[in-house]
Amino acid sequence: MYFPEEIIEEVRTRNDIVDVISGYVKLQKKGSNYFGLCPFHNEKSPSFSVSPQKQMYYCFGCGAGGNVLTFVMEYENYTFPEAMKVLAERAGVKLPEIEYSKEERARADKRSTLLEINKLAASYFYYQLHQPQGKIGYDYFRNRALSDETIRRFGLGFANKTSDDLYRYLKAKGYGDELLKDSGLVTMEERGTHDKFWNRVMFPIMDVNNRVIGFGGRVMGDGTPKYLNSPETMVFDKSRNLYGLNYARTSREKYMLACEGYMDVIAMHQAGFTNAVASLGTAFTTQHAALLKRYTDMVILTYDSDGAGVKAALRAIPILKTAGISTRVLNLKPYKDPDEFIKNLGADAFRERIEQAQNSFLFEIDVLKREYDLGDPEQKTRFQNAVARKLLEFPEALERDNYIRAVSEAQFLPYEDLKRLVNRLGLQLGDQPVKSPAPETDGQQKEVRRKKDKDDGIRRSQRLLLTWLIERPELFDKIKGIVGAEDFREPLYHQVAQMVFEGLEQGDLSPAGILNHFINDEEQYREVAGLFNASLKESLNNEEQKKAFSETVLRVRRHSLDEASRSAADIGQLQQIIKEQAALKTIRITID
Ligand code: GTP
Ligand code: MN
Repeated sequence: MYFPEEIIEEVRTRNDIVDVISGYVKLQKKGSNYFGLCPFHNEKSPSFSVSPQKQMYYCFGCGAGGNVLTFVMEYENYTFPEAMKVLAERAGVKLPEIEYSKEERARADKRSTLLEINKLAASYFYYQLHQPQGKIGYDYFRNRALSDETIRRFGLGFANKTSDDLYRYLKAKGYGDELLKDSGLVTMEERGTHDKFWNRVMFPIMDVNNRVIGFGGRVMGDGTPKYLNSPETMVFDKSRNLYGLNYARTSREKYMLACEGYMDVIAMHQAGFTNAVASLGTAFTTQHAALLKRYTDMVILTYDSDGAGVKAALRAIPILKTAGISTRVLNLKPYKDPDEFIKNLGADAFRERIEQAQNSFLFEIDVLKREYDLGDPEQKTRFQNAVARKLLEFPEALERDNYIRAVSEAQFLPYEDLKRLVNRLGLQLGDQPVKSPAPETDGQQKEVRRKKDKDDGIRRSQRLLLTWLIERPELFDKIKGIVGAEDFREPLYHQVAQMVFEGLEQGDLSPAGILNHFINDEEQYREVAGLFNASLKESLNNEEQKKAFSETVLRVRRHSLDEASRSAADIGQLQQIIKEQAALKTIRITID
């Protein structure tokens, strides 16, 4: 961590969360909270809430949540120190210089210097493209049907034929060899120092804040490699950036188009599809999916129609699904990629293809089908079995049934027969059948399911309890001695509960402050924010909810005692637990 805890807390508390977020999101007061449209996912009715009391935000739609620091980090795509700097300035807090260790300061400085170098390089390439020596590059782009406006918008450029042109330019600007080497723009070998890119047309790669983080360079003819990309550097992480997202994030469409290459993104944007992005020269990653999930719930894959493109699509689909994004696949045939499609058939035809894009599951089935010779009855049976097995991927009976119906229609299989096959395979594989509950399914599987539901249930109770305690700290008196941090047994829940109970004990509970401890791990601070926002309702103001409070407290304690009894070390301990279990039955909590 760069800063001492007190400084982080000072910056946080001096920036009121409602004030700060109001600068980005239109908020409306409802009860004691504020609501607005979530900036982290697309929505029509507001489920993004900001609580002045908790000094936290939480979206009941997408689960984004945190304190004022994480908001600025996520919204602006800032690192933690960057967010600290901006918010400290905003509130007039002086950040102590010395708190950066020398190394850390050097790193931060280096990052911004590398970004500076990239920016200079991009304008240098852009300038060259418009010089006589760059005409060959300019003509290349124009031949590929790019307009001047598009060239400008994407900052396209040209790297000269000479091999150390850019190096000399950047040297003259005062940057040292070490830095230039680390920018990835220059290679230093025994033979001498060269520009990494020469005699190529250049595509600057920008992050969501329009900072140039790397480059792609294409040969103008048939050389190899066709595309040369910047190596990963301090500022360029391929698995976390998507080409075109800086523009696509502001598109008003509900979905994003994901493709494979620079030219595809650019061609689509030029044709009016400004919601297109590409993962560059790397396979689609979970980080890419998480990044997209901030802006959309639906992705249409427009990968190349060749074998490699289909493979890449098959890999991306489950990754997107896990991120909670629903995926469709666009058919580009008879063309290879979006660029060629649009050039040949135009934007209207492309829009039609978008509308016809296929549900990703049905696409997977279609691809699967190609492996079988359906003229042969044995292979056909195998295909049908494979389809049925794949349908078991859907754990929810209703959803699975919807897919059984869709697949039966698409593949001309009688619905009832397919359903029966899926059910039977499900039983064999020990999964839930489509029609539940059949008597044969009792047993282990159900036991597992019941346990899982129970775990979810108990977690929800724990979240509710923490939420209520945070919203009404005076309730702590009612539960003191009945339930405590030790009753939250999962590591993260336990860690958070400990801080909450400590805060309650000392009368200085600050949920947003607790979040500071998790600020370096997006997944964790989101989850913790969820723990503090389990209930949307104005809490505990009617009889029913008062009863629910009492029940929740007792349930959390009872569950904890149950667990303890299972892991009791000796008979004495067990007897003690049993005594406490009995005592719990007599406890009633009343609140007013
Ligand atoms: P154009 O031929 O310019 O239309 O490019 P394309 O996008 O049709 O090319 P292709 O489908 O071959 O490549 C898709 C993407 O893969 C490119 O945009 C690059 O990001 C990447 N790529 C292609 N060729 C190479 C290569 O030789 N090396 C590396 N590292 N990446 C490549
Ligand atoms: Mn192409």
